Parts: sequence; structure tokens; C-alpha cells
Amino acid sequence: MSVASNENPGSSSGVVGDRLASWLSLTLEALHMEFANVLYAVDAGVCTITVNRPDKLNALNQATIAELAVAFASARAEALVRAVILTGAGAKAFVAGADISELAHASPSQCRDLSQAGQRMMRAIEVLGKPVLAAINGFALGGGLELALSCHLRFAAEHAQIGLPEVTLGVLPGFGGTQRLSRLIGRARALEFCLFGERVPAARAQELGLINRVYPAADLASEVRKLAERLAQGPSQAIRGILDAVVQGSECGLDQALELETQIFGLVAASADKAEGTQAFLEKRPAIFRGV
Ligand code: COA
Repeated sequence: MSVASNENPGSSSGVVGDRLASWLSLTLEALHMEFANVLYAVDAGVCTITVNRPDKLNALNQATIAELAVAFASARAEALVRAVILTGAGAKAFVAGADISELAHASPSQCRDLSQAGQRMMRAIEVLGKPVLAAINGFALGGGLELALSCHLRFAAEHAQIGLPEVTLGVLPGFGGTQRLSRLIGRARALEFCLFGERVPAARAQELGLINRVYPAADLASEVRKLAERLAQGPSQAIRGILDAVVQGSECGLDQALELETQIFGLVAASADKAEGTQAFLEKRPAIFRGV
């Protein structure tokens, strides 16, 4: 694991960065885990989590799934982190799916455990309460697409290829893909992905509403970074409220979802950033949000 920082004010540099680094390493020590397959860096309120198995196109083996769960738990717990970028190491792949070499030898009960572990980790991303932006820098296949689907926003490089090829291996998406993709792009289109297992280019995925924006490969990281920084500098409580209302609200009936929105609206209204944002408008000046 590496904890990177720069000299920007508000970044995790200096004493704060050291404390963060030691807190994270203590957390990992407490969990008897080391990050072998994940990079974790915090800079200017943005945490970047990178799946780091480029020689295996960042395939998700069990160890990587467990490490991602810890990395996202750390991002959730750390107050300095106000937005998260998830990406893959190397230029070729975001994540090329579950690790087929493990899958090939897994018993049915081990496959169920694998499905559950992947689902839990991805659900924790979806309900993180901080915006998670997937920077899809290449293949996002199978579990890689499922991982991206658990993020709140998806941005892709032009060369990225996206699909759910599990059926070609005689299995099905088991990390939430059968559910999240149909909720996102509709049942008929999701079934086409699941049943035929074909890959689509990033531009087509954008047309389908699966990808938010597509960038030239050379611009992807910097463009996603700009968006993440904008979110990190925003009113965190309102942003969390939006995530909770949209994610949890889309999982219940309309009346219940509207009640949820009202409750969250009341909570967010107690924030200092709400006072600042509305006052700044009345005073005809830009708001300065502090994330409280
Ligand atoms: N699990 C395990 N290893 C994987 C992998 C996966 N999902 N995807 C790629 N790899 C490994 C390859 O086995 C190869 O390893 P090796 O060099 O030790 O042989 C390495 O990553 C590079 O992959 P390779 O297939 O040689 O690259 P390519 O450019 O020819 O093809 C893909 C790229 C993505 C089209 C191809 O790797 C692929 O189809 N991967 C599987 C995708 C998939 O079915 N995912 C769903 C899994 S449930």
C-alpha cells in the first residue's frame, strides 16, 4: 500500500499525512492484512484506489476483493477523504473480471462465498456516503463491469471495452451485475449483455446510459481528477444526502423514497454549508464550503 500526498493545502501532506498513513497502517495491521494488489493514495480530499495486478489485467482474485473492502472502509472512515476515484493499473484494463484461474478450481460452495464477498464489497462502495468515480481505463469485463456499476459515476477512455462475458465461461454475473445493470439500462438491454456476453466499446456504453462520459485515454485520469476535486470541495453533507436519497430511494417505493428525501433534506439543512451556501447567494459572492 502507498499513501501519497502533495503540498496542496487541505491535502494529507505533512503531519496530517503521517497520521493518516500511520492510522491506515494500524488499521491494516489490526486486520492482519497487507495490500499486495491495491494502491491507496489520498491527496487534496480525493482518495484514489487502484487495482494493481496489471499482468493479470487487474482480475479480481479473493485477496484483491478483501483488500478493496478494507481500502473502501478506510476511505469511508477517514474524514479527510471527501471523494474517491477507483481505477486499474496499466493502460490496458480497468478490471478484466473475477480471476478465472481461481474460479476454475472453486467448488460450488466456494463460488457462493466468492459471490457473497464480491457483492458485500461492492455494496459497501454503493452506500459509502462519499462519491465514488470509476475511471475505466481499459477492459471492464465481468466483475470489472460489476465493480464499476457499484460506483456512483463512470468515466471511460475511448478504447475501453465493456461487457459481461461470464456466460461464455458457463457461469453468470455474480457480483450484482444481473441486478444493477438491468436497473441502470433496462431489463432487455441488460439481458442482451448477460445472455450473449459480447463486449461493447465505450461510446456505445455511453449511448446506453452505462457510462457518464468518454475521454481520450490521455485525458481520462486528469478529467476524472478534476471532477473528484470539485466534489471534494463541495458541501459534503448535501452530497452525502444526494447519494443516500438517490441510491436508497431508488430501492424502495415512491412514497417511502419521498419521505426519505424529506428526512435527509431536514438533516442537511442543519449543516454549516447550507447556511454558507444560501447566505453567499444572498450576498452575491461565491460560497466557501467547509464540508460541515
Ligand atoms: N482472470 C484471470 N486472469 C486473467 C483474466 C481473468 N479474468 N483476464 C486476463 N487474465 C490474464 C491472462 O490469463 C493473461 O495472463 P498470462 O499472461 O499469465 O497468460 C493476462 O491476464 C493477459 O491477458 P491476455 O488474455 O493475454 O490479454 P489479451 O489482450 O489477449 O485479451 C481480454 C484481453 C480481456 C480480452 C482477455 O484477457 C479476456 O477475455 N479475459 C477474461 C475476461 C472475462 O471473461 N472476464 C469475466 C471473468 S468471470
